[in-house]
Amino acid sequence: MHVPGPLSSRWTAYLGLLSAFSAAFAPAVAVKEHDFKKCHQSGFCKRNREFADHALATSSWASPYNVAPDSGSFKDGQYQAVILKTTNSGETVWLPITVSFLESGTARVTVDEEKRQKGEIELRHGSKARKERYNEAEKWAIVGGMTLDKEAKVDYEDKTQITVKYGPTSKFEATIKFSPFSIDFKRDGISHVKLNDQGLLNIEHWRPKVDKPEPEKKDGDSTEENKAEEAKEEPKGEDESTWWEETFGGNTDTKPRGPESVGLDISFVGYEHVYGIPSHASSLSLKQTRGGEGNYQEPYRMYNADVFEYILDSPMTLYGSIPFMQAHRKDSSVGVFWLNAAETWVDITKAKDSKNPLSLGGKARTNTHTHWFSESGLLDVFVFLGPTPKDLTARYGELTGTTAMPQEFALGYHQCRWNYVSDEDVRDVDRKMDKFKMPYDVIWLDIEYTDEKKYFTWDKHSFTDPIGMGKQLDSHGRKLVTIIDPHIKNTDNYPVVAELKSKELGVKNKDGNLFEGWCWPGSSHWIDAFSPAAREWWSSLFKYDKFKGTMENTWIWNDMNEPSVFNGPETTMPKDNLHDGNWEHRDVHNLNGLTFHNATYHALLTRKPGELRRPFVLTRSFFAGSQRVGAMWTGDNQAAWDHLKASIPMVLSQGISGFPFSGADVGGFFGNPEKELLTRWYQAGAFYPFFRGHAHIDARRREPYLAGEPYTTIIAAALRLRYSLLPSWYTAFRHAHLDGTPIIKPMFYTHPSEEAGLAIEDQFFVGNTGLLAKPVTEKEKTTVDVWIPDGEVYYDYFTYQVIPTVKGKTVTLDAPMEKIPLLMRGGHVFARRDVPRRSSALMRWDDYTLVVTVPRENKVAEGDLYVDDGDSFEYQNGQYIHRRFVYDGAAKSLSSVDAEGRDAASIREGAWMKQMRSVGVGKIVVVGAPASWAGKKSVKVESEGKVWEARMEFTPAGQGRAAFAVIKKVGVRIGADWKVEF
Ligand code: NOJ
Repeated sequence: MHVPGPLSSRWTAYLGLLSAFSAAFAPAVAVKEHDFKKCHQSGFCKRNREFADHALATSSWASPYNVAPDSGSFKDGQYQAVILKTTNSGETVWLPITVSFLESGTARVTVDEEKRQKGEIELRHGSKARKERYNEAEKWAIVGGMTLDKEAKVDYEDKTQITVKYGPTSKFEATIKFSPFSIDFKRDGISHVKLNDQGLLNIEHWRPKVDKPEPEKKDGDSTEENKAEEAKEEPKGEDESTWWEETFGGNTDTKPRGPESVGLDISFVGYEHVYGIPSHASSLSLKQTRGGEGNYQEPYRMYNADVFEYILDSPMTLYGSIPFMQAHRKDSSVGVFWLNAAETWVDITKAKDSKNPLSLGGKARTNTHTHWFSESGLLDVFVFLGPTPKDLTARYGELTGTTAMPQEFALGYHQCRWNYVSDEDVRDVDRKMDKFKMPYDVIWLDIEYTDEKKYFTWDKHSFTDPIGMGKQLDSHGRKLVTIIDPHIKNTDNYPVVAELKSKELGVKNKDGNLFEGWCWPGSSHWIDAFSPAAREWWSSLFKYDKFKGTMENTWIWNDMNEPSVFNGPETTMPKDNLHDGNWEHRDVHNLNGLTFHNATYHALLTRKPGELRRPFVLTRSFFAGSQRVGAMWTGDNQAAWDHLKASIPMVLSQGISGFPFSGADVGGFFGNPEKELLTRWYQAGAFYPFFRGHAHIDARRREPYLAGEPYTTIIAAALRLRYSLLPSWYTAFRHAHLDGTPIIKPMFYTHPSEEAGLAIEDQFFVGNTGLLAKPVTEKEKTTVDVWIPDGEVYYDYFTYQVIPTVKGKTVTLDAPMEKIPLLMRGGHVFARRDVPRRSSALMRWDDYTLVVTVPRENKVAEGDLYVDDGDSFEYQNGQYIHRRFVYDGAAKSLSSVDAEGRDAASIREGAWMKQMRSVGVGKIVVVGAPASWAGKKSVKVESEGKVWEARMEFTPAGQGRAAFAVIKKVGVRIGADWKVEF
């Protein structure tokens, strides 16, 4: 018996914070690391690491997994066989394997446990947990790209192996070796990804519990002394001490199915860099995890958790997980997606290839070995063979879906704090933002707006007129976001909890009764968003007449959906809790946030019959696929310079991992940023895809207009810069939506051939604009060094100075407080809207400015602009404008054509498109205009059957500044074909 554990320090810390009277909370406190498991405190992690240690130290090691003779067959793009595992006790376990070769060139390897094993497993008396390996992660994560490659062919086969050629033009091949089992994935005849090459495949098969005398229970927190004792007591061979029960932090996890982890080594042959598997407060290029200088000791962990005041430079888990990893070397990218929703750890090591030192031009190549293990579920891994980073994000996007086309307002600035205390407070902030000429789109309400943390209610004393408040916001096109968390207050006279109970829509405990735990409201129950009935019920709660006080401009924030349970193990739910279908929480934990976020997204789709608008829902917890239903943020960071700095690789990592609509709390959540930090954070935040200022309840008020001069003016300029570039941000989102491209892109992604850029994580390009940003993230820093990835010309965004660059070298730029280091790469055309307004909605019908950055030798510059109504799904019916702009230096022209080659006559214009007929190109700026344009006063414009002259002003180059030309009153419609001749 275990006494209930002490309240987690998350909870006690929050209580402490809430009662703190001083607003000057110092952010020096770091996460209570001991609240979260280290590998040796997680039974299966420890076992898998020990298994690896043993295998790697044994020169004669052979993986005990072999494909059963004659069990294999290949048909219609799929290879099926049975892997036999011989256990220590000589038992044979049957593990059916399916290798699916998909039309896209992606391969999928799935290993299950043979059905006949299932019948043999007797779960512990009284347990309701389902007796199957969890096989529904696919249902939540995968939405497409699963068509089998019928052209895939067996290229070679004998008693020992089979080779299948597959993928576009059959350049990919997989050789499955039978004894021991391994797979070698090759592209163009060269190995890139190997499974079980190191022999670490480990599928802990189900077995009946043999009633031996109970081993002494060991708490993961055991002291050094205890550990020494443990080591002595541990039997030789497998450590069984945590097979059937495991205790950590005073919480005991009953494990009705016993040990059932799945582990596998995945080697990236010849690759030195691996990226992805967010979210971690770590570097973009992931570190090694088995010790050594500069490396971590712990594997990267993915077990979604409410990590209070997280520490930086750590492989610790955070709020969300995407088990998608990419490996990259000069000119080649490959990747894997480990589809498993249980607790997962990944070890990374790198080693010089001793076997083949002559490969790659005589240089000994580096291989990256990764070792993945999950606590339960299927072994299910997708292998991508690239060859470019863009191929990887596209293939992954085909499977898990791409970023939803966002509400356009969602790309504007969001003003949040915990909390705006009343509707008058909200109205006041709204007025002040206007007074200080700071554009913003959304103001947010944190948990205190509710009546005692009962979601779907309002605190009647402080929010007396929510509709009046909503209307004031709406008068300038602004929105309100209210928080709705998954914990439902367990109290009387609250219809929401009464319904959850009576309809049995909550997560259950191991005994099959409604689970009860603690969160913001105190005693609470949790909606089980895995259940279709619960989701339907959830939808009913958001109807305007149910969630009174909300209106068309109200949107939602889902927080605490890991889920955060203050008195639960590692601040989350017990793993033996039960979800819809009697799946254990253990099996689905990392999906929990996604299911809740998804339920809210769908609820917002049905708020009112006939109202079909794109929902906006921010989530804290996520999994592969969450990108389809909203945005995420990086959680509770701190008002500290190192957190500002860390936010950039974190957001970049989200971007390359298929969930680019992301940002960090601007200003830092905990603590009080000094003004310089706050200002620099706004300058950086203006380049997060999701741009929101937020602050903890104990932090001093810090709405941007409070900063005082010169900061207020500088912050206003950063906000306006964001707003002027919204057309380009929106276009970048369109590309993310179409093919999974990140919105801000690291150097390895845009310049995969430049080895020196592969680990750079503090600068990035925005969409296809050629805008290269390098935010200042250090105190009192007034210069930055920007690494230049190519030989193109670079201009300063603000001054048009030509930057003296050398490919592959850094250049130092001045970055005084008022300056955001932002360069324009030659060869691009991007769109802006230059008239400052209060919100994005008010800019809707403004003319565009097109900026052309003339490339070296006055060659070709290109770009595009995507516009739709920013709100409905009408874009799916062709109601959008997508232009492609081409500047041709030799032909002396700039033209606009439909980017998708659509014939204008074929598009039936709806109301929005008709109104867009009044929107034109107001101005064209040609930066780096040829000197030969001097003296020119006008250009010839041709569009829609007419020809006219527009005025041009040319400014010659001077003092390092490029020449530039400005054409005003161009007179063309943004949606029409046109051509300007210079
Ligand atoms: C935790 C979230 O991370 C934070 O942003 C929020 O302010 C608090 N919960 C209160 O809702």
